[in-house]
Amino acid sequence: MKFFITGGAGFIGSSLGLSLLKDGHHVLAYDSFESTLYDRATKERNLDELKAFENFQFVEADIRDLDALNKHIPGHDIIVHLAAVAGVRPSLENPSLYYDINVTGTSNVLSVGKACGITQFVLASSSSVYGGNTKVPFSENDPVDHPVSPYAASKRSLELLAGTFQRLNGGDVTCLRFFTVYGPRQRPEMAIHKFMRIIVNGETIPMFGDGTSGRDYTYVDDIVTGVRAAIDRPQGFKIYNLGGDDVVLLKDLISTISDVVGIEAKIEQLPMQPGDVFVTNCDLTIARKELEFQPTTNVREGVEKMWAWYQRVHMGTK
Ligand SMILES: NC(=O)c1ccc[n+]([C@@H]2O[C@H](COP(=O)([O-])OP(=O)(O)OC[C@H]3O[C@@H](n4cnc5c(N)ncnc54)[C@H](O)[C@@H]3O)[C@@H](O)[C@H]2O)c1
Repeated sequence: MKFFITGGAGFIGSSLGLSLLKDGHHVLAYDSFESTLYDRATKERNLDELKAFENFQFVEADIRDLDALNKHIPGHDIIVHLAAVAGVRPSLENPSLYYDINVTGTSNVLSVGKACGITQFVLASSSSVYGGNTKVPFSENDPVDHPVSPYAASKRSLELLAGTFQRLNGGDVTCLRFFTVYGPRQRPEMAIHKFMRIIVNGETIPMFGDGTSGRDYTYVDDIVTGVRAAIDRPQGFKIYNLGGDDVVLLKDLISTISDVVGIEAKIEQLPMQPGDVFVTNCDLTIARKELEFQPTTNVREGVEKMWAWYQRVHMGTK
């Protein structure tokens, strides 16, 4: 099959692209190297392994550029739309950029895709749509009308756009709510990658809150498996949670990373940040039933794998 992956140079996009290429599929990665969160060189390095495959093509372009989308989408079977400005905290500083790329950009991808004859779309949403929900675990049937950051609002908007698009046009449109993804190539500003870097450099980890906030960390290979399961099971309009099935407290995460890296972490406790949610906890009942999704990597194993990658790429030691 021929895949058009927006955000294909990013953390999840490059991991998905590699998995598809290894199975003989064609992949066009479409990415603008947007630099709000991290630099172009890191994203170029994400593409290194993909470039070894002859079925791989890269296009540097923006999802806000309708001409470029019109030029490059034709000839593909499915669009996996991962391009976005991610990150909760920076979205508080620049909401317009988040709505521009994540909402208008998504609308562009859907409408140009339709004009080019694409009938299957898989889109990245986020656990952040659950906002300050206190009922756990978070289920796809829970209300999601109260996002607490522009990023979360942009992802909820993406879901509403996608549902409207599918009701008007038919076809198969699946939104996947990813829960805090980590692993090799993880974005440098995210917890785990950031904590490893801080610990290695002998600096102090800013810990927001008392360490009892929790996240359902999801290893990237499990996310790729989930995305591929959604690709293989088109069913009209669907929303699925994809998470790690195990909530880890922030203080326990830091101590696991310390233990794996072999250096005791220095920690400075700071107040919780606006826009942060206290806990994310994924209900996988629907994804298990309909996608046969079952994450297999626990946080300890995942941190060990990521540490091996970190040493190889950032320290040149392995
Ligand atoms: N990583 C996570 O934990 C997580 C959790 C929930 C949802 N998501 C979503 O999954 C998707 C992938 O996330 P990621 O962690 O791989 O992030 P990432 O930043 O590594 O990847 C996103 C890619 O999109 C590209 N991009 C941004 N704006 C663009 C534009 N206007 N045109 C073309 N390309 C553009 C970026 O250059 C980047 O390479 C995003 O939609 C994100 O919101 C990620």
